[in-house]
Amino acid sequence: MRLKPEALERYLSQVFGRGVSIKRLQPLGVSVREEDALKAYGYGIPLRIDFELNGEARSVVINTIKPGGFGHERRADRAAILLWQAEAFNKLPRHVKALDIGAFTSDGAALSLSGCEEFFLLTDLVEGREYFHDLDRIRDMGTLTKLDLERCRALASYLAEIHSVKRDDPEMYRRRIRELVGHSECIFGLTDSYPEEAEYIRTEELIDIEKRCIDWRWRLKRKTHRLSQVHGDFHPWNIIFRAGTDFTLLDRSRGEWGEPADDVSAMTINYLFYSLQRNGDLSGPFRELWETFYKVYLDETGDEELLEVAQPFYCWRALVIASPVWYPTLSLKVRRGLLNFARNILEVEVLNPWDINPLLEET
Ligand SMILES: Nc1ncnc2c1ncn2[C@@H]1O[C@H](COP(=O)(O)OP(=O)(O)OP(=O)(O)O)[C@@H](O)[C@H]1O
Ligand SMILES: [Mg+2]
Repeated sequence: MRLKPEALERYLSQVFGRGVSIKRLQPLGVSVREEDALKAYGYGIPLRIDFELNGEARSVVINTIKPGGFGHERRADRAAILLWQAEAFNKLPRHVKALDIGAFTSDGAALSLSGCEEFFLLTDLVEGREYFHDLDRIRDMGTLTKLDLERCRALASYLAEIHSVKRDDPEMYRRRIRELVGHSECIFGLTDSYPEEAEYIRTEELIDIEKRCIDWRWRLKRKTHRLSQVHGDFHPWNIIFRAGTDFTLLDRSRGEWGEPADDVSAMTINYLFYSLQRNGDLSGPFRELWETFYKVYLDETGDEELLEVAQPFYCWRALVIASPVWYPTLSLKVRRGLLNFARNILEVEVLNPWDINPLLEET
């Protein structure tokens, strides 16, 4: 996007409420001739603006964040930093004053966001019923209908289809694996959600889980060839079915590109969770759903390597469901079963999806 001086003038006039005339633009930290100032300007380079306001000379600086590593890859990352700076700068003594927060538009203008408080996203309303209602019924009835199996196959096929879109961006794959372990919504955030010395898990066990996950991080982060299009929160509360196998997804999360095991584990952990509630292990109708899902997904993708990378993703999802924050009323048996699964699966080099129950045992 090419900055236009006249657009900057309009913006500054809006901020200062009176006519502004720009006298000079100078990217800071780079020595360029004045006439090349805007050519040399790029995101991440502070831009000094000297202007006149009611005959008085003033100077301000426009700050942006350089797109790139260390979690600055996405526009949302960079917006989050600037939104935070807009709130924090003026609270610290002897710190430069933040005058306004804004955004550049695709047509080269600058838009003030001052007065904006909480951001929201407007979406369509999705008609239908959330998939968890199906799982509630199966848990309560103990039987599967033909449609239950068709829907399970449709979900597995959908993932096989979206995951077939790959991307060559090793840095992004490493970021996703880093975030799986350290992000507040992921493993470290979940282990922090457990009270110390809870009756169902000891602090040492949580520390051991974190240490094992670091080992898994180093094993997975070299598999950058696996970066694929993903949903990121593929669970039964984010899938709304209408008639038959027609469904719409909600709540894509944490990144467009990631590890396919994230989506596969987010769904299948719920078949295990519901089966634990009903039978205390993976058996009966939910075992049939689990195996049907895996059979369709592995047949359609041929991705046997998934069984060597899914372990920390299952650990994370099990920590979510066993967390007293997300599920305060689970029985001790179900919670302990999930936490055993979270720990034991980290000891398995290659997951055998046809033999899961040993992972639910105390070890
Ligand atoms: N666009 C929509 N159309 C229909 N129902 C919706 C829509 N958005 C949200 N809902 C309903 O609200 C519930 C919670 O919404 P949403 O998924 O955004 O919340 P959430 O707290 O982010 O959930 P999570 O992060 O656990 O998926 C959904 O499970 C669904 O029942
Ligand atoms: Mg949701």
